[in-house]
Amino acid sequence: MKNGLEDVVAAETQLSHVDGEAGQLIIRGISLDHLAGQASYEDVVALLFEGLLGPMPDRTELARRLGEKRADVFAHVGAIDDALLELPPVDIMRALIARLPDGDDLETALRLLAAPAVFLPAALRLKRGESPLAPTPALSHAADILAMLGAKLPSRQDVAALDAYLVTISDHGLNASTFASRVVASTKAGLTSSVLAAIGALKGPLHGGAPGPVLDMLDAIGTPENAETWLSDALDHGERLMGFGHRVYRVRDPRADALKGALKRLIVAHPANRDRIQLAEAVERSALAILKARKPERPLDVNVEFYTALLLDALNFPREAFTGVFAIGRTVGWIAHAREQALEGRLIRPRSLYVGPLPQQAA
Ligand code: COA
Repeated sequence: MKNGLEDVVAAETQLSHVDGEAGQLIIRGISLDHLAGQASYEDVVALLFEGLLGPMPDRTELARRLGEKRADVFAHVGAIDDALLELPPVDIMRALIARLPDGDDLETALRLLAAPAVFLPAALRLKRGESPLAPTPALSHAADILAMLGAKLPSRQDVAALDAYLVTISDHGLNASTFASRVVASTKAGLTSSVLAAIGALKGPLHGGAPGPVLDMLDAIGTPENAETWLSDALDHGERLMGFGHRVYRVRDPRADALKGALKRLIVAHPANRDRIQLAEAVERSALAILKARKPERPLDVNVEFYTALLLDALNFPREAFTGVFAIGRTVGWIAHAREQALEGRLIRPRSLYVGPLPQQAA
């Protein structure tokens, strides 16, 4: 019995490899360093879906069909009523995805990629009292997300930064939400069911719910000089520092650097965010030193969520939306893993170790 299945290998995959000792992420044979900032979201969709959903259309046709699906799913935005609007954006997104048909084909997969990208901006606008903006199918996925949020003509730098983010987080081995997706797929339930289970797993603060609290932490720290005292105090109170630590990485999460690079390129267009980045770098330095001193036996380094928070903030996503944006990017990985599991895997059905009482012996 391994609590949390730590170090247990529970699936064979050709999709991605997380090398926790070397700090490397490989997606279908390509290192993240060669993908983030260079490939578009559509490129990574083609890369991850290859061989899993029948013949893949060429890149232009794939982008066209994805745009078409964004336009189709927009019809569901009308289902956001007052009760749903009370919920966090990721829960609104999940409720709307639950309305979509289940299936195992490319049509279903593209619809599931389109859905969170359309539902999140619509939910955010409705929460602000604004009408949802319909998608523009001819735009790239990243550009359309920003356009639906309200940027009439998203800048080249903003689109590049969002693309870099979506690519960086597209897939990451057998993380909790991907495992949830594979468990559901192993019962042959269909891709929509897999994605719904994965969103449920993602939203917890130990997984995809961390970046909002990272910004809260930076706001609370306020100035670089305050970092050391604030962080020490938080640890003294038994808190975890958000954006640090990882189950697999024992060194720096390579996605953190991919996002830091994207952020530095973006900041040229958003100089107002420069101070926040300087603060973040100071907090990162202090946190690493303090964690090293307090937990010398457990290497704890910065993880993907730390720079996610800064990047998405610079792109004007409100912090309550960060988990939803993560879901937009990760859905491609969930779908690819679900297909791989359904095509090649067996029903996932582990056993538990019963440690409860036994029935009383009859006297
Ligand atoms: N801040 C402070 N201490 C931390 C820590 C953090 N961010 N992450 C782990 N630790 C400590 C734990 O308290 C534990 O100490 P203990 O043995 O004295 O109890 C030790 O390091 C090992 O932690 P453990 O819970 O076994 O690690 P895990 O592999 O289960 O957890 C995370 C991994 C990501 C859940 C964990 O590092 C965490 O909670 N990080 C903060 C949330 C976050 O950034 N999540 C996004 C992940 S991408």
